[in-house]
Order: sequence, then structure tokens, then C-alpha cells
Amino acid sequence: MQTSYDEIPYPGAPYSQTHPDRLATLAILFGMAPAPVERCRVLELGCGDGGNLIPMAFGLPESNFTGVDLAESAIVRGQELIGRLQLNNIRIHHLDLMDFDSRFGEFDYIIAHGVYSWVPPQVREKILGICQSHLAAQGVAFVSYNTYPGGHLLDTIREMMQFHTRNVASPRERLRQARELLEFLVEAHPDEDVHGALLRQELKSLLERKPEFFYHDELTEHNHRFYFHEFVEQARRYSLQFLSEARLLSMQTDAFGPQATEKIRAFSGGDPLAREQYLDFLKLRNFRQTLLCRSEVALERRLRSECAAQMFAASDARAASPEPDIASTSALQFKYSSGGSMSTNHPLAKAAMTHLGRVWPRALPFSELLRTARALSRRDSGTDAAPLEEDASWLSDMVMKLYAANFLELHVHPPAFITKPSPRPLASALARAQVEHASSVTNLRHSSVEVEDEAARQLLLMLDGTRDRERLLLELRGRAHSGEITAESLEINLNRLGALALLVS
Ligand SMILES: C[S@@+](CC[C@H](N)C(=O)[O-])C[C@H]1O[C@@H](n2cnc3c(N)ncnc32)[C@H](O)[C@@H]1O
Repeated sequence: MQTSYDEIPYPGAPYSQTHPDRLATLAILFGMAPAPVERCRVLELGCGDGGNLIPMAFGLPESNFTGVDLAESAIVRGQELIGRLQLNNIRIHHLDLMDFDSRFGEFDYIIAHGVYSWVPPQVREKILGICQSHLAAQGVAFVSYNTYPGGHLLDTIREMMQFHTRNVASPRERLRQARELLEFLVEAHPDEDVHGALLRQELKSLLERKPEFFYHDELTEHNHRFYFHEFVEQARRYSLQFLSEARLLSMQTDAFGPQATEKIRAFSGGDPLAREQYLDFLKLRNFRQTLLCRSEVALERRLRSECAAQMFAASDARAASPEPDIASTSALQFKYSSGGSMSTNHPLAKAAMTHLGRVWPRALPFSELLRTARALSRRDSGTDAAPLEEDASWLSDMVMKLYAANFLELHVHPPAFITKPSPRPLASALARAQVEHASSVTNLRHSSVEVEDEAARQLLLMLDGTRDRERLLLELRGRAHSGEITAESLEINLNRLGALALLVS
């Protein structure tokens, strides 16, 4: 049976917020003991062409991965890539998840990304039913879905598009006509119209989406939204409870100031689930990525910052000054690629962020970060050296705050890649396979990265670990269509690929 996903394929992509490393990190911070990421069992429901699951299996060879999807053409594409990479720790099945049964066994992590809101009610029930029957005792499920109150405006737009395309059967023609209507609405409202400005902003972001995403996410028959409290109640009926959001930042109120934080606390009366609901009101949230676990798991609702000391940290912090004065108590500002910034005058924090920024994208064990930060801030020697225990406790609190603010990543299983190319560089076989057809590839940090330059793409294709610099230069000169290749430009491109987390050695 052909589905709309066979007719208009949905481009697969890696979603780092669904990776077992992220799920395990959050589970540990909230008091669980999840399965080790390097030896776990992962199930993805509605895995599409495996764009998310295959890179996970590639990066975690001792773990096992199962995917199911109703779109046969997507599964065939994924199976081809699995065969090409010779992965024997992943199986993806062409299967209606309504037919998912006990033969699949138990899983430590279950992922349903972009499925729950986009299927009929019985399939939604089945997704939660599968979590209930197949999730391990300390297992974590990821479910993303559309929410109210932010979704009301999107409902309005959707209803307009549905009316406009009510007599059109062909998906591609529906897509074209729906976009035509939205483009008209964007143009039609005068700038000073407040209501129009709000609508226009929403329409523009819809029109910026890839047409395939736009079609399946907004225009198809099923697009159901829920209030958070409704979702939690649905999950409760399947003996599942709210663990956290996959992005900790979305659970914070700091951006609204202390008064808003206090008011939300008062409205919630100490109930963490009510707090989440009020947060959705405050943020007008239209989408959630929720982690669930079994109802009987005893959770610690306070983030356990002491756990950070057992984890790995990474940050793309950029100090405002190239020669930062770390040891003094003068303030130093850091900027992040997410667009945020923060300022601190604490030498240990300045040292830690400066160091992480320098080694980015590598993740460092907390113990190494602490040692380096103490040395850089000169707190580890001399007559007024700070006690190690005190610094360790202060830095783990700081790391947790930075993690919650999305200025720092925490990992329980740091991704394996190198940034300094070896004499015979080896790039990820997955990225080499992907770059044959596209400039966007999946790196070893489970993210999409663009290899924009033609020479860099050709170089990436050649990095199978057999060629030294001389050989690479010779072959690149024979192949490249654009620009002169020098030993220097080769090194620059190798380092770029390293910085994109695409190199294994
Ligand atoms: C919006 S796409 C999301 C794909 C992927 N999870 C992602 O986020 O990129 C929804 C996926 O769910 C699959 N799907 C829908 N109903 C299904 C069902 N009853 N059984 C299995 N897969 C289903 C579709 O074929 C499609 O691949």
C-alpha cells in the first residue's frame, strides 16, 4: 500500500535530542539508572528512512537498534544504506506499528519523533501501548507532539489551507496551492496591523520549511495538538510518567525574570506537572519533546548537579577577548553559537569556559575540566590555593546551570571523533556515503553538517584511511573542478572536516 510518505518522501535527519546519550544523561540527572548507552537496545517508531537511527547504530556498534515504518520506499532506502555500511546491529522493518507485537522484546530507549501528533487516535494509543509493554524498568521513551496554547494560531492557518485545497487530490498540487495561499496572506497584511504581524511571522516560518516537511507536518489529514496536561494524562493511562523535556532549556523560566519564576511557582503549588503546563501558557508553546518513563520509577525532581562530576562537558563558548584575563575577578563575556551570551567574573568559570571553547567540539571528562580550569585560573598552587573539593562542588553546580541554559552540553557517552587529522586521515564511512548525493551529512556528534565546498566534498570522499597527504594532493589535483589545491589548502580542509566532527582518525 502506497502512503503519502511514499508519494512525497520525508527527508530523514539525525536528531541529537533523541540520541540515547541525551536520554540517558537526563534520566541520570533526574535520579534514574538507565542502561549504558554503549550497550543498549533502541526502538524507533516511524523511523522513516533511518536518517536518525542509522547514524546511532553506526556510532554505537555494541548496541542494538530496531526501526519500524509504514512507508515501504523509506524502509528500502534505509536498508540500502545499512547494507552499504555493513551494519549488523540494526534492523528496520516495513511494518504498520499497529502490528507491533511481543516478538520484538524489550527496549531501553524508545523514540517516536514526529509521529504522535501526525497519526490517527488508535495509532497514538498504540505508541503509548508499545511504550508500556516494551520499555525496560529503567527505560526512557521520547515522544514529540504539537501543543496548545501555541498551536491555536497554527490550527487557524491549517484550517484555511484545508478549505483552500478541499477539491484537490494530488499531494503535490495541494502543496503548491496551500503555499500560494500563505504567500498571499503574508503579502496582504499591512505592516502596522498587529494581528497581521503575528500571523505573518508564523506564515513566514512555515514557508521557510522544506516543502516535504511543510506538507507532512502541516497539510496532511492528521495533525493533532494537545495541552501538556492532556498528554500527561494519556501517558498515565499507560503507566507512564513525565520525566523531563529533551531540551532542559525549555523547562526554565529565567528568561522571564525572577517575578515570573515566582508566580509560576505559586500557580503550580509545588506540582512539577502543573508547573510545566503554566510554562506552556507563559511561552505559548506549540511543540514539545517529552521524555517518559514507567510510572513506578522514583524520580528526583531536583536536578542532581553532583552527577555532572561523572559526565563529559562540551561547549562552543567564545570569549569576547582573545587573551582573556582568567585569574583576576574582572568580568568576561562569552558568546554561544545559539545566539546567547553570558558574563562571569569567577576565575574558575572563566577558565572552564575558555578551555571548553578552545577544544570544541570535543567533550572533556569533568575531572579533566576541573584540573585544567584550576591550573588556568591558578587556583591549584601557591599559598592561597583553593581546596579541590570546594572547587569541584562549585564547578559542578556551575556546569549544571550552564547546561540548563543550553550554554554547555553534558554527555554520559562522549561521541568518538578526532579534530587533528592523522597522517592517513579516516573520515566517517557514513558521511562518505552520504556526501556522494548531498552536501548535508551526519557527523559523529549525531548532527547534520554542511560540507559546502566542492573541494572539501571531494576530499571527504577520499578519506578512507589509505591515503597520506602526498597521495591526497595528487588525486585531488586530478579530480577537482574548481580552484588550485595546495598543501596548505588541503590542511585547511582537513582541519575543517575535523572541526565538523567528521574524522575518526
Ligand atoms: C512525520 S514522519 C517522521 C519521520 C521521522 N521519525 C522523523 O522525525 O524524521 C512520520 C513517519 O511515521 C510513519 N508512520 C505513520 N503512520 C505509521 C504507522 N501506522 N506505522 C508505522 N509508521 C507510521 C510515516 O510513514 C512517517 O515515516
